[in-house]
Amino acid sequence: MKNQRLNTRKKRGTKIWITLAVLFTILIGASLGALSAYNWSVDKAIQGLFYSSSNEPDKAAEEPADENNPANEPDDGNAEEEPPAENPPEPSDDELKEETPPVKEEEPLTPETVKEPTYVQGVLIANKEYPLPDDFAPGEDEEAKAAYMEMEKAAALEGFELVAFSTYRSYEYQDELYHRYVDEHGQEEADRFSAQPGYSEHQTGLGFDIGEVGQEAQWADDSFKDTEAAKWLADNAHHFGFILRYPPGKEDITGYQYESWHFRYLGEDLAVKVHNSGLTLEEYLNM
Ligand code: DAL
Ligand code: ZN
Repeated sequence: MKNQRLNTRKKRGTKIWITLAVLFTILIGASLGALSAYNWSVDKAIQGLFYSSSNEPDKAAEEPADENNPANEPDDGNAEEEPPAENPPEPSDDELKEETPPVKEEEPLTPETVKEPTYVQGVLIANKEYPLPDDFAPGEDEEAKAAYMEMEKAAALEGFELVAFSTYRSYEYQDELYHRYVDEHGQEEADRFSAQPGYSEHQTGLGFDIGEVGQEAQWADDSFKDTEAAKWLADNAHHFGFILRYPPGKEDITGYQYESWHFRYLGEDLAVKVHNSGLTLEEYLNM
């Protein structure tokens, strides 16, 4: 009996020591782990061991994070240099006034103010909206002249003796011509069949007035439209690169009444397309 009690006491004592040893080992292990985690700083390790994350002193005082409030973002020293991309600073009213150029009414182009001729989709334009510079003087276009000569030969085979009675006209010559028409017919009427200086397609060197040799009375006259020569031209000029530039019923678009004698050289490809479209050049080019 005595031996049994002694054994029981010994066992209890052994259990206590084992328990104490385990607790000690856990404490030492935790301390070493904490020291290691906090870079061997004893102060931080103690804080880490005995303070929960919710009451860490440096975070407890912070405002709740607000993604849209740049004041709540951590200050990495670049806050002023790099504002958040999503919220760039709004320019002040004064800055806006400085940056926005004053809205100007567009001045219409004139031969005196325009610096370069206008090209639309590669096509040189001269009409009531787009004048040529007054010093634009290319002379008769050589390619257009060669194409006209081909057309003249083809027409001769059909029995028509064509003549290009007016092709390139300088700014100065158009000025003289226009004012002569104004004197004879008044400006309102003259503006329907004659371009003002700087606005004539003849100044491009690509406009050709065509009639028949010996039929001067029909040159630049409405009577030409009823001749077989005029009909042949209307039906065939595009194969040689020319279009009838001022067709009937399109004065509101082209600015000029029907001129059965005035042809514009565009080159064969484009002339065929414009002719087949049934549109004026302005319509075809979406001007
Ligand atoms: N007769 C045409 C429109 C011109 O004067 O150019
Ligand atoms: Zn003409």
